[in-house]
Amino acid sequence: ASRYTGVIDRYRDYLPLAPETQAVSLGEGDTPLIECLNLPRQLGMDLRIFLKYEGLNPTGSFKDRGMTMAVTKAREEGSEMVICASTGNTSAAAAAYAARAGMRAYVVIPEGKIALGKLSQAMMHGALVLQIRGNFDAGMRIVQEVAARAPITLVNSVNPYRLQGQKTAAFEIIEALGEAPDYHALPVGNAGNITAHWMGYCEATDGREGAGDILTGACKFCNGRCSYGHGKAGKRPKMLGFQAAGSAPFIAGHFVQDPETIATAIRIGHPMSWDQAHVVARESGGWFAAVTDAEILEAQRWLARFEGVFCEPASAASLAGVVAAARAGRLEAGATVVCTLTGHGLKDPDTAIAQGGEVVTVDATLAAVERAILER
Ligand code: F0G
Repeated sequence: ASRYTGVIDRYRDYLPLAPETQAVSLGEGDTPLIECLNLPRQLGMDLRIFLKYEGLNPTGSFKDRGMTMAVTKAREEGSEMVICASTGNTSAAAAAYAARAGMRAYVVIPEGKIALGKLSQAMMHGALVLQIRGNFDAGMRIVQEVAARAPITLVNSVNPYRLQGQKTAAFEIIEALGEAPDYHALPVGNAGNITAHWMGYCEATDGREGAGDILTGACKFCNGRCSYGHGKAGKRPKMLGFQAAGSAPFIAGHFVQDPETIATAIRIGHPMSWDQAHVVARESGGWFAAVTDAEILEAQRWLARFEGVFCEPASAASLAGVVAAARAGRLEAGATVVCTLTGHGLKDPDTAIAQGGEVVTVDATLAAVERAILER
């Protein structure tokens, strides 16, 4: 028996790390791929839908896959501090992995616009939490400048090691299904994760290690003739990127000044992986689309009520987008679809509770409890 010890130990041969590099890990990755048993029938969709439940990572989001890489490299390079701007999940992961590595974390968050679970994580792990009177995009500009001036490692997804770690989710999906799905849907903010997944799918289906480094814009096997990868051996999915309607620069075709959405994780107007994500959509044959906040919350409730899977609002944008696409006839019957559920529902209890559900207060007696049950 061998103990699972995280994505670096599992996929080191496919990551830009020396064999001797000691991983800073919390056992991230190896998350379940859960098939929807009820939703397709319930919604009248002839699709096989799988949920890649990234909320089961150590800090409750997919960011851990990237953070293990970014912090491992930062520590190896002798850095003692990390910094990020964040809508919440990156800050939680940065704080936790920095704590693990004995490093200091500085996190810049938009005041009042991050879910409480995420804030509690950054605080508990001992990060210095800097709330700015501004949004994520403003924070991003500031941390890039700080990292350029001071010996502090930037661990946002512009750090190339982040996407390298995040691509491992695609490897796991291919291993679980035996091949890539027909479609892979993700919520999109900075578009780092959709880019990372496409890197992973390209590398895994190329049949060779390390092919297609889209971050450098060159594939080392074709001397730059393709932007990355080589569409041969092995199926690749069409990548579908879904944004919240009030925060949808990829659908608008330009950056958005004042992004707004209940899905605070993806409240981003100036995506960092803008160019890469356009390449992903083009090369994979996929597309971007917007979903409304109401559709996002509805999909979040469906997942919780009909499949027993609780994700945060932003995560549900993947399913909301798939449902809209299916209803519009854009997905062929019988297709296999993976929806990444990027973060755990417990990250944002306020938004969940605000959606209602039944809580009945009764006296602490058998009779009162019995009556309440029988009345319903
Ligand atoms: N879903 C969740 C739960 C997220 O936290 C994020 C990004 C995304 C989706 C979008 O991923 O940016 O790679 O397209 N959260 C970042 C953060 C911005 O600071 O936690 P992306």
